[in-house]
Amino acid sequence: MKMIFLGPPGAGKGTLAVKAVEILEVPQISTGGIFRAAVAVQSPLGLKVKEIMDAGKLVDDDTTIALVKERLAQDDVKKGYILDGFPRTIPQAEALATFSNVEKVINFDIPDEGVIERLGGRRVCRKCGFNFHAKFTPTSKEGICDHCGGEVYIRDDDRPEAIKKRLEVYRAQTAPLIDYYRNKGLLLDIDARPMIDEIVVNFKKAMGL
Ligand code: AP5
Ligand code: MG
Repeated sequence: MKMIFLGPPGAGKGTLAVKAVEILEVPQISTGGIFRAAVAVQSPLGLKVKEIMDAGKLVDDDTTIALVKERLAQDDVKKGYILDGFPRTIPQAEALATFSNVEKVINFDIPDEGVIERLGGRRVCRKCGFNFHAKFTPTSKEGICDHCGGEVYIRDDDRPEAIKKRLEVYRAQTAPLIDYYRNKGLLLDIDARPMIDEIVVNFKKAMGL
């Protein structure tokens, strides 16, 4: 299954993707995750995107498209993939259509208050990237990842100003993709407000599994 997880920042795309990877047995490809890994090792890509990400803006289309095109040429995606956070603009979606046939797009439906609460409490493992939440899914030991023992930190783009900017960018540049994919008959809406276990059940139902 070749699919896209589409939705505002903090909707829970990454959290559901971790579960969906096991259900569908296809890899998760998170453009945000790839950019964060590049920032962590201070590669040329990382140096280029750090400021843009911290400000809550989008990395330019050419850079992002080239990265995804290269990733989708690898062998492990033959059976399918979950694109988490790509495409985020109409030009990205149009480019994607030239090198891969997407079969389904999951649209995460959640109001701004939900996003702000989720991003405000998000805690991320520096080592394995797992997402916790200070209130909903806290780590057992303060600041330490339950899965790998890594250090748990707050993402630089989870500051209030950056969250506000990301929501604006989402509305202006990414939300138009909802109609773009609905018109192609690929969109499945999912209520992203419940806790994760309920969302997993709804996701399976929506997928006919
Ligand atoms: P990216 O990493 O994709 O960030 P984002 O879209 O802003 O989304 P998030 O990762 O913040 O949210 P999420 O939906 O994955 O939520 P999560 O599961 O973590 O991108 C970062 C940046 O990279 C962008 O701003 C941009 O600069 C750049 N970039 C990336 N892709 C790009 C592209 N295509 N083009 C250009 N630039 C690009 O959940 C959030 C929190 O809520 C967590 O704490 C989690 O534990 C909690 N939570 C999740 N689900 C639930 C639930 N059901 N109940 C309770 N708590 C929950
Ligand atoms: Mg994410």
